[in-house]
Amino acid sequence: MRFDIVTLFPEIFSGYLTQSLLNKAIQASLVEIVIHDLRQWSIDQRNHKIDDRPFGGGPGMLICVEPVIRCVEEVQAMSPDQALVVLLTPQGERLSQPMVEQLSTNPRYIILCGRYEGFDQRVLDILKPIELSIGDYVLNGGEVAAMVLVDATIRLIPGVLGDEQSSVDDSFSRGNRILEFPQYTRPREFRGLSVPDVLLSGNHEAIASWRAQESLKRTTERRADLLPPSS
Ligand code: 6GU
Repeated sequence: MRFDIVTLFPEIFSGYLTQSLLNKAIQASLVEIVIHDLRQWSIDQRNHKIDDRPFGGGPGMLICVEPVIRCVEEVQAMSPDQALVVLLTPQGERLSQPMVEQLSTNPRYIILCGRYEGFDQRVLDILKPIELSIGDYVLNGGEVAAMVLVDATIRLIPGVLGDEQSSVDDSFSRGNRILEFPQYTRPREFRGLSVPDVLLSGNHEAIASWRAQESLKRTTERRADLLPPSS
């Protein structure tokens, strides 16, 4: 899977790109990530300006249509796979695990990270991107959201996680849309807190039943909205 990320702050991504799981996926050629500095497509060769004041007035600056369109067209041509264009904005559809699962089946994305007050509307009219938000709060730009999107997506690509099974047991994943049960490792006791006996019993049926019960309990307490409406 290839991600072309278009941003005004390319350096934000450097630490993330060298992080272990993503870096391993890149080394194994399962994932390719190319960061593009939107300023390279500025019409203004001297100052590399890419934003301007909104017509009609108002605070802040907008990202101009021309550099974005030229950038996306050129980036699209850099690789043969047709990319889906994703624009990260608090006004987008809120990202969820089912959406991530859907997205993980597509071979290529061009991700546009917004800054300032957003993009000229004609960017949306021309590119018709998938508009995504990562939650109901406002970030200073789309870069952190882009990392969230890439991070959630790549771990569903076969071969990226060491153990193929491990993403299936996650909270919100295909197998269960409820929260995970509590987990314990050694020592068996710490500051008076013991590991539940059932986990040490060797009785796999009892363990599975305890875990299902704890998952349901935790979900009821914390995220009742994830449970099917009770009759
Ligand atoms: Cl994708 N961008 C910004 N700027 N803020 C957000 C967001 C995206 N998702 C939630 N808040």
